[in-house]
Amino acid sequence: MNSGYKNEQTTIDYYDSDYPSLYFSKYKENLDNTFQYQGINKDVEKYLNILDKLNIPNKEVLELCCGTGRIALPLANAGYIITGVDILQGMLDKFKTNLNDNYPNLNDNISLINQDITSLSLNKKFQVAILGFNALLQIPDFNKQLKALECVNNHLNEDGLLLLDIVNPFIQNFKGDNTPKAIFTRRNTTTGNTYTRFSLTSPINAEQVQVLSGWYDEILTNGNVKRSPYSMRWRLLFRYELEMMLDTAGFDVVSISSGYNDSPLVPYSLNMFVKAKKRSSKYQAVEKAQSHRH
Ligand SMILES: C[S@@+](CC[C@H](N)C(=O)[O-])C[C@H]1O[C@@H](n2cnc3c(N)ncnc32)[C@H](O)[C@@H]1O
Repeated sequence: MNSGYKNEQTTIDYYDSDYPSLYFSKYKENLDNTFQYQGINKDVEKYLNILDKLNIPNKEVLELCCGTGRIALPLANAGYIITGVDILQGMLDKFKTNLNDNYPNLNDNISLINQDITSLSLNKKFQVAILGFNALLQIPDFNKQLKALECVNNHLNEDGLLLLDIVNPFIQNFKGDNTPKAIFTRRNTTTGNTYTRFSLTSPINAEQVQVLSGWYDEILTNGNVKRSPYSMRWRLLFRYELEMMLDTAGFDVVSISSGYNDSPLVPYSLNMFVKAKKRSSKYQAVEKAQSHRH
């Protein structure tokens, strides 16, 4: 197990309510003001715009760390054939429920695979891979993040494209919180109950890892409160560190922008949206030969 989660069942149970889909969220009230700041209201639209401009063989797209289908399901609904990979079988089970509840006619267009992307092994290559919404950060170790990028590279065609989306570290709170904060009150998509999520961010450590922990207080139908703790780790990545990692993993960075409308990256940008192309193997061979000569 390589993900940064503790109490992972809690994370799975609340995922769709914490990170609701604009396209199929059960409760529209979960798309509240805090949802606007989570960085997930425009990303799917962005992927659709990019994919629609590419000439993708058989419209096949690989989504790494696909979770419960927030990105993959609307893409499949737009005609893409999706291979989704996730380390947590519970996330994939919820993905299947979301698929059956919302897009039952798309069953044949989606394959779900339970694997750790740091040792990804699919007998197939793709023209486009998506590693969206901070998923790379949730592998809370530098070497494993690099390994994940190398594995993704190995699953792309010669000129294949990686689309990567992570938060901008400069807007994060490196010192951590002094007290837990209630961040929102929403409805649990499975139980229909109202819950409040409390969160506490730890100070960043020397490995650039933070613990994001807290608890959910859900009001049960009998009026009692059910408290469920959660904890996950992420490893923040800085722009030039990420660029060097992509280079090492065999990618050429095509662009780094912020937001979902190709704005230039600035220190206070919400996120870093990266397009990176797999470097051609011919070029990689020349580079290797040159580095041996020096
Ligand atoms: C922030 S969620 C993103 C889910 C989805 N892509 C979305 O945008 O809503 C991160 C997902 O990455 C998965 N994950 C974390 N580490 C992983 C790994 N090493 N291999 C595969 N999946 C992983 C988690 O289980 C989780 O579903």
